[in-house]
Amino acid sequence: MGMAVGILTGGGDCPGLNAVIRAAVHRCVDRGDEVVAVREGWRGLIEGKFHTLGLREVSGILPRGGTIVGTSRTNPYKVEGGVEKVLRNFGRQGLDALIAIGGEDTLGVASRLHAEHDFPVVGVPKTIDNDLSGTDYTFGFDTAVSVATEAIDRLHTTAESHNRVMVVEVMGRHTGWIAVMSGIAGGADAILIPEQPMTVEAACALIEQRHRGGKDFSIVVVSEGYELSFESGEHQLVAQEALADQFGHVRLGGVGEALAREIESRTGFESRVTVLGHVQRGGTPTARDRVLATRFGLKAADLVGEGRFGRMAALHGDTIVDVSLEEATAQLKTVPREWYDVAAAFFG
Ligand code: F6P
Repeated sequence: MGMAVGILTGGGDCPGLNAVIRAAVHRCVDRGDEVVAVREGWRGLIEGKFHTLGLREVSGILPRGGTIVGTSRTNPYKVEGGVEKVLRNFGRQGLDALIAIGGEDTLGVASRLHAEHDFPVVGVPKTIDNDLSGTDYTFGFDTAVSVATEAIDRLHTTAESHNRVMVVEVMGRHTGWIAVMSGIAGGADAILIPEQPMTVEAACALIEQRHRGGKDFSIVVVSEGYELSFESGEHQLVAQEALADQFGHVRLGGVGEALAREIESRTGFESRVTVLGHVQRGGTPTARDRVLATRFGLKAADLVGEGRFGRMAALHGDTIVDVSLEEATAQLKTVPREWYDVAAAFFG
């Protein structure tokens, strides 16, 4: 008699979610398990939203962006009676195990449920931000970097035609992974990220230095979580504090516009801003993300089959391993100095 395995996707969607779901369903069905979709992240367990997930449902979803089981930023620990409802509905549905696909928030809940209630859950690391510890890469990140790189390439040609400074704002929340990687790939002239907060004055100096060297256009990549920093020591996070989610995250966005205004007024160079936003998260995953997501999905199903709960599939080097959910969610994985230095070798 096989197990009944639930699958949920939580937090912001991300290219490759469907590839994970497809792989996990195949592995589970192959060994005789039944798979159940838990709709819209933890909300599905709180509200009892389920449906069957068989081979027919996952047919053709490998290249599709988004998630066929829906997602939300619902936090059971912030909903009245949320955790009790999760446990009750899980039992009522006859589930034996859960595969939770998510980032630090979704997996943080999974980790806590496992620690506090011995909840039979395994995790899969998802996020375009690549900020999860315990894994070298999350799936979705490669796609986001590819989208941002293509945008930078396109902005290069128009920047050059008009002698402009083009500021590109990318996602990444409180880490600068997307900014640094797309900035390296696209040849950015300055990159501003939360981990290595270059001042506005220093960024302007780089642009002026370029102009003196005969290049009268520049590409500046800024991560949405970069705090506008000044030599005076003043710094400011551009965010909508009033729109915090159930995990306490404020809605970021807008620093690109503020930075472009500063650059234009301080250097006198005409500046424009492009905010890439959710374009980085939408659409079909790259081949690399499809492969990584597929390997993660198989690994998660294997962990369930082996009864190794409280674990998360992870990539170490080129090998799929597993790490504890607790370890993976303990702290954010930030961009190390070495990576930033690769990008900085080409500034100015
Ligand atoms: O975590 C993924 C992410 O895309 C971040 O880069 C971004 O700050 C946030 O989600 C945006 O969230 P929402 O989809 O709720 O606007």
